[in-house]
Amino acid sequence: MDIKIEKGKPEKFPCELLLLFSFESPEALAGPIQNVDLKWKGFISTLMKQGDFKGELFECRLYYTQDALPAKRVVLMGLGKRSEFDLETWRGAASKAGQFIRNSGIKQFAFPIKKFDGLSEEELAESFVVGLLLGVYQFNEFKTLEREKIREIEELILLGDKNEEMKSIGDGLRAGQIISEAVYLARDLVNGPSNQVTPSVLAEKAQQIAKNHSMEIQVMEVSQAEAMGMGAFAAVAKGSQEPGKFIILEYNKGKEWDTIALVGKGITFDSGGISIKPSENMDRMKDDMSGAAAVLATMEAASKLQLPLHLVGLMPATENLPSGKAYKPGDILKTLSGQTVEVISTDAEGRLILSDALAYSLRYQPKAIIDLATLTGACVIALGDYTIGLFGNDELLLKRIEEASVKTREKVWRMPLWDEYFEYLKSDVADFKNVGTRAAGAIIGGIFLSKFVEKTPWVHLDIAGPASIEKERPYIPKGGTGVGVRLLIQMLRDWKSF
Ligand code: BES
Ligand code: MN
Ligand code: ZN
Repeated sequence: MDIKIEKGKPEKFPCELLLLFSFESPEALAGPIQNVDLKWKGFISTLMKQGDFKGELFECRLYYTQDALPAKRVVLMGLGKRSEFDLETWRGAASKAGQFIRNSGIKQFAFPIKKFDGLSEEELAESFVVGLLLGVYQFNEFKTLEREKIREIEELILLGDKNEEMKSIGDGLRAGQIISEAVYLARDLVNGPSNQVTPSVLAEKAQQIAKNHSMEIQVMEVSQAEAMGMGAFAAVAKGSQEPGKFIILEYNKGKEWDTIALVGKGITFDSGGISIKPSENMDRMKDDMSGAAAVLATMEAASKLQLPLHLVGLMPATENLPSGKAYKPGDILKTLSGQTVEVISTDAEGRLILSDALAYSLRYQPKAIIDLATLTGACVIALGDYTIGLFGNDELLLKRIEEASVKTREKVWRMPLWDEYFEYLKSDVADFKNVGTRAAGAIIGGIFLSKFVEKTPWVHLDIAGPASIEKERPYIPKGGTGVGVRLLIQMLRDWKSF
């Protein structure tokens, strides 16, 4: 979708469709909708008086203007009760309007942006664009039949009034586009099947991004990683014919900014390995690289937004498959940290590849490490698919994530990392086991990771639940969600050093 900004008044602007928002049963119309109503001889206020359009949340109506306005059609979208309104409602309304307009086969529309309720034009434009673009996302690359039925909106014109407003709308639009493009990238990678999105493909994507934004990149082969001492990553990668890649992307290398390491689990398919999973729902395990996808997407967005930070993105990428070369239960692995791990289940592979990535990230002496991983089924049981499990060893860093979460509404919920849980990971033959009990599985996964970050402020986000969803939400279609991308970008935009 091509999004432009133009100076103009909605009641005077010729377009295929004009989109207008209204609260539920307002005392009086205000802002753009009021101006349109005046020009339209009270058409909208009459509708509302008669109860034909009430402005209830996501209530949506299409009207023909019959030449009463330069716009051919008007869509009215309800924002619900004013007292319950916030930017999340705004994003939802943008998405629902976008889906309605697209599904009606209309290719172009205009939307006036005017500040209200203490929200600036910039914030409103950014959130409108994010809600709209995320809501009309479709993954249809592999659909070959009836492609002519695929509908897309081609053009949106954001209308501004005064010159200084145009600048704010422009800034909001640009940020909204960058954020949405990042979420699209993550969703495409998650929705892409494992026979397409292999570790090599992830590495190529990262190469492309590095090239386009002059970032530094290093892609280690499994043999190099092994020679370096990454015995855990190498063990998981060796069971597969598809070569594993350990990807390191660096933005603002050598600059004096705070260094932040982002670590993403990149299992492009998790069969469980020798401890093979039941076949039911195993297809979902193509999403086991959602953490790596989020890291890659965030890195690209950070560079487009020119954030004043030194970011290191670490993405260990491999399949987890059974074969004659696969690692086995009972094996003892030597990790990059020097600590040894007894493998109880080859299905607890995420924490193994992350242990080496976390240990490697320490070489950059980061101010903070944030990892994202579809780590445990237990986290899905605990929190469902709405909520990210939030773990960490540093109050300030946890707060930064929680504050970003309030803004983006990617819900996080704190989970403990108390020492007592470490008991479950004690091994008779190695420093620890890779699996404890089924009970508290998400916490034990977090405890395992905590052994590889030393004293560095660190947060672990278990995104196993929300990485992909089966029922759509206002601006999240079914399938891969790109969860974590907006959260990370928001936290990085708000980053202040101490
Ligand atoms: N990738 C899975 C976790 C997962 C499960 C994500 C379901 C999304 C939905 C992970 O590698 C895994 O298999 N974890 C095991 C750990 C167990 C063996 C300790 C699990 O959760 O069963
Ligand atoms: Mn697994
Ligand atoms: Zn996994």
